[in-house]
Amino acid sequence: MSAPAKEVPTVDINYWNKKWVDEQIAFHRSDIHELLKSNMDIVCSKENKMKFLFPLCGKTLDMKHMLDKGHEVFGIEGSKVGIEAFLSEHNLTYSITDDGNYKVYRANELPITFYHGDFFLFDRLLPEIDVIWDRGGLVAVNIADREKYRDVLIRLMTPTTKLFVVAMFYDDEEIVGPPMCLTDEQVQQLFAPKCTIKLITALDCTEDFSTRHKKPVKRMEERLHLIQLK
Ligand SMILES: C[S@@+](CC[C@H](N)C(=O)[O-])C[C@H]1O[C@@H](n2cnc3c(N)ncnc32)[C@H](O)[C@@H]1O
Repeated sequence: MSAPAKEVPTVDINYWNKKWVDEQIAFHRSDIHELLKSNMDIVCSKENKMKFLFPLCGKTLDMKHMLDKGHEVFGIEGSKVGIEAFLSEHNLTYSITDDGNYKVYRANELPITFYHGDFFLFDRLLPEIDVIWDRGGLVAVNIADREKYRDVLIRLMTPTTKLFVVAMFYDDEEIVGPPMCLTDEQVQQLFAPKCTIKLITALDCTEDFSTRHKKPVKRMEERLHLIQLK
């Protein structure tokens, strides 16, 4: 008799909030993402200062990396625990204001702004965004919500915005998402009607994932896609 199929949990903002409150944040990396570092030449153009958006940003150090390089950063995050952890871990003081349904955290010492609230409802205006770095975003939402998620991203893009999606790919019934597996075909289906899509590279992250999540996985890949409006 085969083991019953594992049930994939429904992930919403409350699910993730609980993860932050319970300090179950194995998704958080204590280093800068390898794919961001190794693709810096295509991520950044020659411009001095660019505007980066990190959807579902958590407290990723990738944001600090781009700040340190002189860029401006916007993050959208549903858990204030994550936002406040980033600010405090980098010794940043900040103000909080209201913008529609969002609380906006603005750091005083560095050009970083966080919108605290539900990404799916994000209806605020942002300045023109040059780069969207989506690591742990699209793969962190329910498969049924992917189109809604894509539509929010597309609204925030201009013809020159570069959207980078780090897709997680695995073929292992032992893994219960999130992260949800995101195949190249699914990336195509989601974005091809309005966007061009280029697979930049793939990284074997089996060891890194197994270590962070404290359980061995057979094979896991991170596949970096560059997506731009047609
Ligand atoms: C897998 S983590 C990735 C965080 C970050 N991008 C990183 O690389 O470390 C997903 C993040 O998305 C946030 N999140 C999930 N659903 C959300 C939603 N609907 N609106 C806003 N934030 C959400 C969670 O709180 C969590 O911090």
